[in-house]
Amino acid sequence: SILVLDFGSQYNQLIARRIREIGVYSELKPHTITVEEIKALHPAGLIFSGGPNSVYDEDAFTIDPEIYNLNIPILGICYGMQLMAHQLPGGKVAPANDSSEYGETTLHVSDDQAVLFQGTPQDQVVLMSHGDYVEQVPDGFTVAGTSEGTPVAAMQNVEKKLYGIQFHAEVQHTVYGHQILENFIDQVVNAKRKWSMDDFIKDQIEKIRATVGDKKVLLGLSGGVDSSVVGVLLHEAIGDQLVSIFVDHGLLRKNEANEVMAALGGKFGLNIVKVDAQKRFLDKLAGVSDPEQKRKIIGNEFIQVFDEEATKLKGIDFLAQGTLYTDIIESGTDTAQTIKSHHNVGGLPEDMQFTLIEPLKTLFKDEVRELGEKLGMPHDLVWRQPFPGPGLGIRVLGDITEDKLEIVRDSDAILREEFAKRGLDAEVWQYFTVLTGVRSVGVMGDGRTYDYTIAIRAITSIDGMTADFAKLPWDALEEISRRIVNEVDGINRVVYDITAKPPATVEWE
Ligand code: XMP
Repeated sequence: SILVLDFGSQYNQLIARRIREIGVYSELKPHTITVEEIKALHPAGLIFSGGPNSVYDEDAFTIDPEIYNLNIPILGICYGMQLMAHQLPGGKVAPANDSSEYGETTLHVSDDQAVLFQGTPQDQVVLMSHGDYVEQVPDGFTVAGTSEGTPVAAMQNVEKKLYGIQFHAEVQHTVYGHQILENFIDQVVNAKRKWSMDDFIKDQIEKIRATVGDKKVLLGLSGGVDSSVVGVLLHEAIGDQLVSIFVDHGLLRKNEANEVMAALGGKFGLNIVKVDAQKRFLDKLAGVSDPEQKRKIIGNEFIQVFDEEATKLKGIDFLAQGTLYTDIIESGTDTAQTIKSHHNVGGLPEDMQFTLIEPLKTLFKDEVRELGEKLGMPHDLVWRQPFPGPGLGIRVLGDITEDKLEIVRDSDAILREEFAKRGLDAEVWQYFTVLTGVRSVGVMGDGRTYDYTIAIRAITSIDGMTADFAKLPWDALEEISRRIVNEVDGINRVVYDITAKPPATVEWE
């Protein structure tokens, strides 16, 4: 494998992702990892990521220099290269001055034998983002590339297999970045390219069988991508030793419960206990209008229902979870085993006496989707838009009633239908309707109406952290609005939310 040591760059996950794309397994490790720990992992190569520090900062991230004596090939990227130059004898890093470079820059390959740049042109566009720069390469190193602002844009010590690049090879803006990383893997590290989704499936199935034996595994199915993929993978491995619980809390989209049951229970034959808990949830939520209170009630009720059902099922030793690699990294520790409520439907009880099985915990979201498709899951299920755990409970503003839920479900179904018809579902990250508490005057036929307003929310985003409102075609909005007012009782007005996040959030509550 290739270990990426994380010095805090915003691109650190992307590096691991790119190496996996090349076909070699790669993981991110904190820069605090010890040399002993690295040795124990037997990596074929190391990559030092970029980072926001200057090597001169008092609390700059560093690494035990013993690492350079392990005889493991190293590629330092940006800060990673500067750290190398700073730590190795003879190297010199010059602090930030006017020559800082940010953005696309031309790299000039000055050593046309340089192995990293094989198959790439002598002048090429790369993404630079740095203040400090390497002024002098360490002893035994040569300069492989320069740019206008940097005397050392790439350096190498071929004998010791130590390489550094000042630019970010992992981002798209660096036109030959993929080739450069491939050269490092193929020619320097000499790693076999064998990481593929098919192998991953085979490995995981063997591992799951070995771990579980003839015991039983429980899974909380939400209908979302992650838990569905875990369900299908586990079912492939252990068949009916997997028991899934699917709680219908009544806050799902139109037909959603049936679709999940039909796809996973029907086609894939998962053994699913469906719990119809709509009334329980609605009773608990009656009259409650504070958003955080609603979330808390839904979360707690979910735990109770799940717990009750799990207790009824005897002889279960394992609990499967759809934890992803990003969940683990973002939690700040490398081996976080605790269940994080935010990442799951309402969270699960922390005191459950199960051993956890998390087969997706080394995967990124797009790899989970690839896995789902490899397992033959329907496109719709695999490419589902994000849906919050509290469901429609936070899309009916204020207090929740069955009538109001019906309005959101029906208007949302129209929106989704129109999006699918126009192919907008592939372009827009998340889209839904919100029942605002606002009522306004309208006219229908000859009569006055005084009905509710539906808001449409449609956003583009990478990760939900920031978002823009989608610039939808007017005719699409027109048709959606016309249909909602005509087909959904109790609605006489439709508005489009044109606010970005920040300052607004994606959801209205
Ligand atoms: P906000 O509204 O925070 O939404 O801008 C960002 C993303 O998170 C989803 N979201 C939630 N997901 N439980 C969840 O599981 C929640 O309570 C929750 N609130 C918001 C939202 O749908 C969007 O994708």
